[in-house]
Amino acid sequence: GAERRSSSSILVAGSLNADTFLPISRLPSSGENLTLLSNVQPLVDVPGGKGCNQAIACAKLSTATQQSPRVAFLGQFGNDAVSEILKEALTSNNVDIKLCGKSKLHPSGRGYVMIVPNTGEVSAVISPGSNFYGWSAWGVSTTKQNKSRADDDDDLQQPSVLTDEQIEGMVSSFSLLQLQCEVPNLVNLRLARAAKKLDIPVILDVGGEDRRMDRELLQCCDYLIPNETELERLASHYDDEQLEDDITIQKAIDQIQPLIGKSLDVTTLLKNTRRLQKNGANNVLVTLGAHGSILVTKHSSILYQPSCPLPSGSSVVDETGAGDCYRAGFAVALLQQRQC
Ligand code: RIB
Repeated sequence: GAERRSSSSILVAGSLNADTFLPISRLPSSGENLTLLSNVQPLVDVPGGKGCNQAIACAKLSTATQQSPRVAFLGQFGNDAVSEILKEALTSNNVDIKLCGKSKLHPSGRGYVMIVPNTGEVSAVISPGSNFYGWSAWGVSTTKQNKSRADDDDDLQQPSVLTDEQIEGMVSSFSLLQLQCEVPNLVNLRLARAAKKLDIPVILDVGGEDRRMDRELLQCCDYLIPNETELERLASHYDDEQLEDDITIQKAIDQIQPLIGKSLDVTTLLKNTRRLQKNGANNVLVTLGAHGSILVTKHSSILYQPSCPLPSGSSVVDETGAGDCYRAGFAVALLQQRQC
């Protein structure tokens, strides 16, 4: 394995979306209709999706550094014209798409991003399309009760399901696997399992669908990366945890809380990371937007990294994909560090 992986390479498996940006003066409240801002053009069919964003960011960061890891993307293109735009975005940034499939029956995933241009604040709704329904060759069944089997993508063309050995074969030439939650859980689980068997580190971004994760998936991932909302959402799927009367934790709370301020409760955050670790998670890296990030290692070390301040005179115009860039930066740095 180590010999085959001598050159560094990242496999990003996940979603691709064609994003539509809807500029509005503020995010709507429940039940409220808002009209688009008249002075900012809505943007349509912008390449996006967490997987696609992370793959391109990894490739850009890799080119910018001395050691240039190869970056490949594994996802499912839709059956529509916009999939060509997504393909072009990946290939023109040197992302290898040989492992990708194309859904015969489902359109590309779409992101509808409400954006407040004054603050850069965003909120999105996702239509998953082929990101969810294009994986029948991976054993994912999308057949619903009132849906005929013929509606299941590729079921008719793809009689056999990929074996574990075939998936291991796909993963084996890479030195790092990066996942998110905008594709079915089973796809992530099968890939993470294969990577774990081959001793390839796995990063799982919790961003995407709200879902409980099996202990096995959590155990297969070396780094689980939620933002603070995703951390809370994911932790709520598991039993509550008392923080042990641990001096390291108390010291960390005392040190980090004043740096972050009152808007985030570090005790709750650490309780939630513990909850995930009790349920199988290894290292948990929580991103906190402008507040920075906190890494809680599986050996209970707690590291706080503040965010870089904006250059003076500049302001945030669009937060879309900020988390994807952070995760890509982390992946590339982790890989480079492992190779030193
Ligand atoms: O992380 C940002 C991405 O999330 C957007 O590109 C959108 O498509 C959603 O998947």
